[in-house]
Amino acid sequence: MSDFADIFAQVIQKLGGRDAVQALLGVGPSALSNYLRRAELPRDKMAIISTALHAKGWSFEPKKLQLYPLTTQTKRRVLLIITGGIAAYKGLDLARRLMDRGFSVRGVMTESAQNFITPLSLSALTGDKVYTELFSLTDEAEMGHIRLARDTDLVLVAPATANFIAKLSHGLADCLASTLCLATDAPVMVAPAMNPNMWQHPATQDNLTCLDQRGVQIIAPVSGDTACGEIGIGRLAEPVDIADAAAQVVHSKRNCLAGRHVLITSGPTHEPIDPVRYISNRSSGKQGYALAAACAAHGARVTLVSGPVSLPCPANVTLVKVNTARAMHQACLSSLPADIAICAAAVADWYVLNAATQKQKKQNHVQPQIELAKNPDILASLSQATSRPPLVIGFAAETEHLIRHAKDKLAKKKCDWIIANHISDDPSSSVFGSDHNKASLLKGVDIIDWPYQSKQALAERLIVEIDQWIKAHDCSIETK
Ligand code: C5P
Repeated sequence: MSDFADIFAQVIQKLGGRDAVQALLGVGPSALSNYLRRAELPRDKMAIISTALHAKGWSFEPKKLQLYPLTTQTKRRVLLIITGGIAAYKGLDLARRLMDRGFSVRGVMTESAQNFITPLSLSALTGDKVYTELFSLTDEAEMGHIRLARDTDLVLVAPATANFIAKLSHGLADCLASTLCLATDAPVMVAPAMNPNMWQHPATQDNLTCLDQRGVQIIAPVSGDTACGEIGIGRLAEPVDIADAAAQVVHSKRNCLAGRHVLITSGPTHEPIDPVRYISNRSSGKQGYALAAACAAHGARVTLVSGPVSLPCPANVTLVKVNTARAMHQACLSSLPADIAICAAAVADWYVLNAATQKQKKQNHVQPQIELAKNPDILASLSQATSRPPLVIGFAAETEHLIRHAKDKLAKKKCDWIIANHISDDPSSSVFGSDHNKASLLKGVDIIDWPYQSKQALAERLIVEIDQWIKAHDCSIETK
């Protein structure tokens, strides 16, 4: 039976049988057979059916072929795929954390994951069946793998092994878990865990880049002792962080930025001293790129003006590459109008007025004289531009008196919000180059302290705030 036929049969049964439905819709028996053949309901009939089902305590989503009891319709679903690594046991903790956040969790385990934990332990936690096989007649009769893939708000692969990531990037569908990732139309999130060498291997990194460009959200592993005894990046991110990131994705409406133009600056700028030397600031560009990826995933048209970084352009983002602050400034002004500007770049404060056109040779006893001039302040300039984006957001990274300095910046630059980065002296928790960030959001007099979180999670949190701001201030330039 097709998915449509299946759901249609349930609808008919819930509404009291074929005769009752024909009477409700004012049609004869052939009409019902036609709907079934076309696997589609006419719009006006759909509305009548939805209302009738609602009255009987059911919510009907015909596009997703879903029928929920009204009491549980607000419960969001996560399809949790556990693949086979030593971190598989953390999948159990993750399932619990997801349920704590109000999700209903449906578990899927690969064959190798079952070497580490049993489907029974996951099933006992989630209170639901755990799916393991692609060709299981029982499962197909009960659910069908396409329904399993679609009947969810998020597909979360955690932990994801190097092997599974490789399969995903190549689009393999050789087991239930990889097939579900191909068949789903829900967002896919992947939390890798592996040996540090496997993580760093160019093959793994290329596969992750490919997934990132396809819009898969990667929750990067963290640094520390791994099960194999090696120290480095490869440990599964904390289940709490993964659950938070999942909640951000699912609860914030995926398309809340549709029809908006978001301008983002990112990365450092390079101010040449001569053709081989430059002045710069420390910046990996990771936060700006995470913001660009998240805004695009939420439906925005994104222009990312980026200084030199070694990051791939996120999916569906227009990348404008620049080197200097002056070029970044020009590129930003040329990208206006925008609804929202987010200045995450670590712009060099000065450029070299007397930059040489040839490489300067070292000479004994002669020190080069560098004359500096102030760079344009892009954030201040956008905040005070005639075609000012209605919402302008800046960043502040400070080593001391963070909130005081951030407040000063808010006033001086005349932007709307500042994200204040807590820069720590401890290199293991440093913001620079890290995949994590500890920040507070300053909105006028309001200060919201965010937890230590991944840069993707920060991006999602900011989008939730932007979404609320948009709802309160209806002023899109993009739609005008
Ligand atoms: O002035 P400061 O560099 O501390 O301010 C940081 C904020 O201002 C960041 O949002 C940064 O992107 C932005 N900025 C800018 N242009 C500059 C300097 C900083 O857009 N020339």
